[in-house]
Amino acid sequence: GSGSEVELIRHDGSDKGIATIAFNRPKAKNALSRSLVGDFRQALDELRSDSETRVVILRSAVPKVFCAGADLKERATMSPQQVEQFLHSMKVSFRELETLPQPTIAALDGAALGGGFELALCCDLRIAGPQAVLGLPETSLAIIPGAGGTQRLTRLIGASRAKALVFTARRFGPMPALSMGIVNDVANQESTGDSQNIGESGYLRALEWAREILPNGPIAVRMAKRAIDHAGAVDPVTGLDVEQLCYAQVIPTQDRLEGLRAFKEKRKPVYHGH
Ligand code: CAA
Repeated sequence: GSGSEVELIRHDGSDKGIATIAFNRPKAKNALSRSLVGDFRQALDELRSDSETRVVILRSAVPKVFCAGADLKERATMSPQQVEQFLHSMKVSFRELETLPQPTIAALDGAALGGGFELALCCDLRIAGPQAVLGLPETSLAIIPGAGGTQRLTRLIGASRAKALVFTARRFGPMPALSMGIVNDVANQESTGDSQNIGESGYLRALEWAREILPNGPIAVRMAKRAIDHAGAVDPVTGLDVEQLCYAQVIPTQDRLEGLRAFKEKRKPVYHGH
């Protein structure tokens, strides 16, 4: 709505099926305040039940920053009880993001620190621009990562590398992030014109990834996400059961038959999500 700090854009034309969530709270570098988290949850709620949306990109509309983490100014005005309430709703929003049925891509074109980095860890893929600065500075603030960072980062890159980053509170750029497996891809230096100042090459690269996912069977992609997410959560035998249940969801679809027809007719399939 008007005055919202979180924009939800549904693309059209050949990009129909891609939705972009853009954080837009320039005066505080997209720091996570009560109002921003509220707006964010509303956008996620809209997308969760939107079967037209096949891929979701999370980006910033503010130059040089993805998200500066928790709002440390608002935090200073809160009672311990309010801090606890806020942290709860922030963590719920992160879990809502992580459990969106569609694949999600974080476009990191600037600083993603503390809660901002933990937020990016809730996406399925992370694409960095050349100006990305990542890190978990919490121990330098005498706290610890509290929005899933100790768990999600460790599952992603292993305990030893997670400890190195958390103990030192170090900030690092896109290339170390790529070599550790924190980001899937790094966009090239911004080349021409306006984009040099906006710094959105990470977003443009994320769009390319979204366009590569878009033509694939939408139910299949959702079910693949669901099955893969169970791999880190249940024992291997249960995991294989979950995979079988997810597979069973795609067998009766029209899209599966269309895939077989298109193969036989040597053409590209067109999927409708049913
Ligand atoms: N909370 C509140 N306000 C913030 C903020 C934050 N996390 N980060 C930046 N701002 C504000 C600044 O105070 C400043 O406000 P004023 O203009 O009123 O002074 C404004 O945003 C611009 O900031 P900078 O001048 O610092 O901008 P920059 O471009 O030089 O640097 C930055 C941007 C790298 C993000 C830098 O602001 C920064 O390092 N911010 C702090 C990041 C941080 O430590 N985050 C971790 C928070 S702890 C956490 O997230 C744990 C949790 O509880 C989940």
